[in-house]
Amino acid sequence: MIGNIITLVILVALVVLFAWLVTRAWRSKRWYIKWPGILVAGLLTLLFALVTLVLVKGLYDFSRSYPVARVNVAIAGTPEQIARGEHMATVLCATCHSQNGQLPLSGGNNLSADAGLPLGDLYAPNITPAGKIKELSDNDLYRILRTGVEPNGHLTFMGGVTARFMSDDDAQAVVAYLRQSTPVENQTPPISFSPLLTLFAGAGLISFNVPDVLQPINSPPKAANKEYGEYVVRFMDCRGCHGPTLSGDAPPPSPPGASNLTVVVPNWSKDDFFQAMRTGVDSTGHKISPPMPWKQIGLLDDVELDALYEYLHALTPITAQK
Ligand code: HEC
Ligand code: HEC
Repeated sequence: MIGNIITLVILVALVVLFAWLVTRAWRSKRWYIKWPGILVAGLLTLLFALVTLVLVKGLYDFSRSYPVARVNVAIAGTPEQIARGEHMATVLCATCHSQNGQLPLSGGNNLSADAGLPLGDLYAPNITPAGKIKELSDNDLYRILRTGVEPNGHLTFMGGVTARFMSDDDAQAVVAYLRQSTPVENQTPPISFSPLLTLFAGAGLISFNVPDVLQPINSPPKAANKEYGEYVVRFMDCRGCHGPTLSGDAPPPSPPGASNLTVVVPNWSKDDFFQAMRTGVDSTGHKISPPMPWKQIGLLDDVELDALYEYLHALTPITAQK
């Protein structure tokens, strides 16, 4: 936060400085100082003013209070529900909330270091019952999963996490699992957003669309068919990198280089697909490289992976139009 304030002060100072230089250039009697001076100082004034506005927008988005969507869940905590929740937590939460990508969810590494960008201190906290979740009701927990908003209306980083596309049943199963997971004492450093992350947020590069009211999310019954596969694509967020049509057409800030799945997977057998997702090496011997999260995808169970294959295999190939 302090970094953001210092950056803001510096930016405002730069705007004032260059605006003052514009007025100085304007008063100059020499044309070769006057016009280039006005042009350069003027452009820089505008540039820094723009960056200042984006930063202010980001600070506002991070610090304002969000109207908290109403939820009312009753979590039964049956053994099946807990088992399902444990599975979803392994696939969807452990990448961030654990240091080794496995349960327990006792707190993770700095995501900023993983991203290779100075985004701040982004440690996903301990969410075992020994962590802060003991202060949260089931409704609060469920709402954080769905919207990223804390009970006090404050937005957390979880707002940008795609676990919010899980079905209501799956999200409730995760809450059921968290409640009875083994408590682990561990404290991660507090979250702090760097000026760069604030700028990204202000520029709209991170989607924190917080819904006022939660719409129900249903999934088809779990089965190895393409209907269920479409649901797996949603909660695993394949489109976040492979684009809206899965043809590799995701706009920035999505990482570049994600394959055209409409062309790749229809040419693969089911075995090819399982091998690629479970071992990270496809049938041509190509080692699948990051950021493709094949390890995480490989944690899906056989039915889910089968369903995913059925859905992707049936896609109509989209080839780039030139
Ligand atoms: C992309 C990384 C990432 C993933 C994936 C992720 N989280 Fe988080 N989560 C975070 C970060 C970072 C925070 C801290 C947010 C903050 O304080 O602004 C957080 C905060 C939370 C909190 C709030 C804890 C508190 O102190 O109030 C809960 C609850 C939570 N996550 C649950 C989950 C669950 C359950 C999953 C899986 C379904 C999950 N998260 C997946 C990164 C992640
Ligand atoms: C974080 C970004 C990201 C996400 C999320 C993601 N992918 Fe990928 N994917 C990539 C990138 C980048 C590549 C290219 C990597 C390579 O070929 O080495 C890739 C490649 C692939 C390939 C081709 C591999 C090959 O050997 O040619 C398949 C299949 C694939 N992804 C499937 C999926 C599926 C299914 C999902 C969702 C369950 C998914 N991806 C989610 C980034 C992503």
